[in-house]
Amino acid sequence: RINYTLPQEEQSEEAKQKAINKNLLYEMHKKAARFFYDALNGAEGVDASQYLEQRQLNGSIRNKFGLGYAPQKRDSLYQFLAGQGYDLELLVKSGLVQKNKSGGYYDKFSGRLMFPIIDVNGRIIGFGGRILGSGEPKYLNSPETEIFSKSKNLYNMNLARLSKKKEFILVEGYMDAIKIYQAGFKNVVASLGTAFNDEHAKQLKKYNDSVILMFDADDAGVNAALRAIPVLVSHGIRVKVCQTEDAKDPDEYIKKFGVQAFSVLLDNAQNYISFQVHCIRKRYNMHNTEQKILFTNETAKLLSQVTNEIERDVYTKEVAQMTEISEQAIRSEVNKLSDTTQVNLQKKTYTKQKFEVVQKGVHEARKNVLNICINNMDTAKIIKQHVQPEELMDAALIKFWTLVYSHIEQNKTIYAGEFVNHFTEIEEQRQVSEIFMIEQHFESNKELEKAVNDQVKAIKTAYTDDAISKVTDIAKLQALIDQKRKLDKLYISLSEGKEGLP
Ligand code: UTP
Ligand code: MN
Repeated sequence: RINYTLPQEEQSEEAKQKAINKNLLYEMHKKAARFFYDALNGAEGVDASQYLEQRQLNGSIRNKFGLGYAPQKRDSLYQFLAGQGYDLELLVKSGLVQKNKSGGYYDKFSGRLMFPIIDVNGRIIGFGGRILGSGEPKYLNSPETEIFSKSKNLYNMNLARLSKKKEFILVEGYMDAIKIYQAGFKNVVASLGTAFNDEHAKQLKKYNDSVILMFDADDAGVNAALRAIPVLVSHGIRVKVCQTEDAKDPDEYIKKFGVQAFSVLLDNAQNYISFQVHCIRKRYNMHNTEQKILFTNETAKLLSQVTNEIERDVYTKEVAQMTEISEQAIRSEVNKLSDTTQVNLQKKTYTKQKFEVVQKGVHEARKNVLNICINNMDTAKIIKQHVQPEELMDAALIKFWTLVYSHIEQNKTIYAGEFVNHFTEIEEQRQVSEIFMIEQHFESNKELEKAVNDQVKAIKTAYTDDAISKVTDIAKLQALIDQKRKLDKLYISLSEGKEGLP
């Protein structure tokens, strides 16, 4: 992208090893899934198989989702995988195997129905395991690993994204997702017990811009839906909400009322604003005038955030009907609040923009200093006496810094290509080559000295300001303010033996 051709060189050992390990983890998960699958379909899996029958999951859906069974014996998967020659440390890193205090190994999952968790590329990255029948915990999930992040993955996204439907159905649980899929709605995804977050929304938005929320009917489900709505809306996703009546979740709804009824339920999904208004309404007694006013004020606040004029009009009318308060009064309150919302929003974007500009300047300074360091070893040595690596505040730059000084110490020549190979992420590699490409011209040593001082000060100021914004302890705050004051007096001299003197 920046027109710089990287010299062809080998990947660093570190990057290579990391990639190899990641692949081994994928492979291990695939083998584990196969192992669980075979167990479910073998003699050990009779109970689990019966359980699935009772939950009304048919054979083809079991295969589609790769369902399996983790045998009772607490080291069966461990024995299986260790027998294939995997490194024991890596087995533990996969989260599938745990090590106990006496050094023995045992399986994370045993006696459980296993749900492989698959990423959008079709790779198995983790598992959920349900106890057969009742007991605690009901579900065990893989821990966060090198290849699995709960907050980034949605269950069934690999299949749902292939569906031609114009929206996603978002549910809470594994069972709900599978049951809905079995009912013919392939566009279902589940958030798996974590709060719905921006990462999830970004993923959904990649494939679709509409979502039907179908969380559990209990208070927890309603609250989870209320929390997910603003996240989805802020990503420009259209949201509808479905509530299952007389059934605690979609799975139970389908079991009780059938696929046809479920389809009708989906068709009748409510607009999210309407859902929010009804949730607020439940908290107030509409026969009491004062409560009715409180309700109207709260909904007015909500409506003031709705940007679409038509939607706003429709729901203003609805609230007027509910409260018997005049439409006009509600509308004028909504408009008043909306103006304030707009002002606040603008203020927020403005301050955010300003902040980003400042940040960008500091980031340039960090890269410029690193560029000076790679081009001028003597200056680099002096800079090292005044800057702490953490003051660079960016993991890639800190790593870059460490590399620079380890090269200087070992008297090794610094090459762009070799440096880039120490980084695995494209974005980091881009930053690294940018640092090599910066061109700074200094007419004199004095000019270089001035540049070093200006930039080091910018770096240290940003670091201290950040610390100040985070500090909660008054003594520490005082210390930081002192530190900042001292920065004014800092002067780095590049001529020998005079460092630090003004
Ligand atoms: P639910 O308790 O609603 O589960 O939790 P469910 O899917 O309806 O389960 P069944 O029908 O009883 O089998 C919703 C989701 O929250 C996570 C799981 O991802 C589950 O699917 N969860 C729940 C856990 O991770 N651990 C638990 O102990 C319970
Ligand atoms: Mn359920």
